[in-house]
Amino acid sequence: MDGRNIVLIGFMGSGKTTIGRKLAAKLDYRFVDMDIEIETKAGIKITEIFSKYGESEFRKMESKICEELSKAKNCVIATGGGVIKNDKNMKLLKENGVVLYIKATPEHVYRNIKNDTTRPLLQCDDKLAKIKELMEERKPLYESRNDITFDVSGLNAKEAVERIMSVIEGDSIL
Ligand code: S3P
Repeated sequence: MDGRNIVLIGFMGSGKTTIGRKLAAKLDYRFVDMDIEIETKAGIKITEIFSKYGESEFRKMESKICEELSKAKNCVIATGGGVIKNDKNMKLLKENGVVLYIKATPEHVYRNIKNDTTRPLLQCDDKLAKIKELMEERKPLYESRNDITFDVSGLNAKEAVERIMSVIEGDSIL
């Protein structure tokens, strides 16, 4: 389909935003980060949305953005790690998108976000344990809702993008 979006799903800290930005530049696509869209609309940061209104309100905002993005074209979309929890979100994003799962080990994720304070769901003493627990819970969702999986564990963003580009070009998936 002409103008198909590339939708990146995967756990927090797997590199969706960094990879997505580079991928968009290579493809000359617009880059959209769902979390930034939500923050811009709400006028406050995600941590504040969670603390003031709760996770369920955040999920509603997230679904609203999915609706809007179902009509987008030629975009690389970095989703929030929890977007896969709602089937309707994925249906909307798939309307004009190919879904790539950016897969990474808990250790890879931990290295990326060990000092991060912007992800409310990971603010606890034992971050690695929390990552492992949440990832285990969500694994079946990430695995069943993607068109192509890329394991980026141990790769830097540049290497990950090169791998993705070679598949996109080779299989003409867009
Ligand atoms: C979340 C992931 C975050 C953000 C929010 C909730 C999740 O996005 O949407 O903190 O439930 O996994 P990133 O995956 O970009 O960190």
